[in-house]
Amino acid sequence: CSLASLAERSGKLYFGTAYQSFYMAAEGFTPVLDSEFDQYTPENEMKWSVIQPEPNVFNWTGSDLIIAHAKKTGSIVRGHNFCWDSQTPGYVTNITDPDELKSVLKSHIDAVLGRYGNDLYAFDVINEPLNDNGTFKSNVWYNVLGEDYLGIALDYAHAAAPNLNLYINDYNIESVNNKSQAMAKVAQGLLAAGKPLNGIGFESHFIGGETPDDIAESMKQFTDLGLDVAITELDVRVPVNNMGIANSTWLEIQAKDYAQVVSVCLNNTKCPGVTVWGFADYFSWIPGVFAGYGAADLYGFTYQPKPAFYAVQDTL
Ligand code: XIL
Repeated sequence: CSLASLAERSGKLYFGTAYQSFYMAAEGFTPVLDSEFDQYTPENEMKWSVIQPEPNVFNWTGSDLIIAHAKKTGSIVRGHNFCWDSQTPGYVTNITDPDELKSVLKSHIDAVLGRYGNDLYAFDVINEPLNDNGTFKSNVWYNVLGEDYLGIALDYAHAAAPNLNLYINDYNIESVNNKSQAMAKVAQGLLAAGKPLNGIGFESHFIGGETPDDIAESMKQFTDLGLDVAITELDVRVPVNNMGIANSTWLEIQAKDYAQVVSVCLNNTKCPGVTVWGFADYFSWIPGVFAGYGAADLYGFTYQPKPAFYAVQDTL
């Protein structure tokens, strides 16, 4: 049985993965994608810098391929993302006039959701808005529009695609801490103001053996407000040798971490599903960003299932 069908049997909507369209050309990739996963997140190809690299110049190539593949396999897609401090072009981040920034944001959202609104299940409208201490990150959105930018972006997205589930997505909110408590206040404020917020994304980029033991409690901070909480970017990085290989002790630790996260989602009816941030170590973003770490995914370099894969299977 696939991870997707096991998840559905357990009452979840999906078991998903992020990927980039060009991975589909790599030998061995698409068979695993098609057999195990029924939800896709474009790893980069709906980000602003990819989809509208210059004003009014749209590049739909990669995102079209992912949407088309989802239609072919009957999978759902989480869009990612609109307002972020990263992978956003200079023509946007250099804007200082609030009206201009709002109009650029609105036309971007209208273009993306005009094309894909009916093909998407959810969208990370806001990505990574908070610092670890719970204050707002300094980015063009906050610096020019203040806290209002979240509600503004949510309103634009809702107007463009009324049935889409709109999310705020962040990391380090998977535990009860300053950041997740601040996020809960932000969410509560948006809901009180009638803003169209449907869910919170727990990115869940964890380190082997350091997965928080209070993910369920943190999730409850948001689901008690009536929001969904999706696991949006799960991976568990572990120390690797200079070939990118982890030893079996770490792979067993990692398997427990994966199982723990999946079981939290299973045990909360407001968690629609789990998305892994890539399923094959060969394509993982981790080694390029976290020196000395890798092997973060469910499958190894040649798509052999790792202990984490079997642990997730057992948990589902
Ligand atoms: C990462 C991608 O995986 C990389 O390919 C890219 O170079 C940088 O972004 N949080 C997010 C994701 O919300 O969009 C990031 O994805 C990982 C961290």
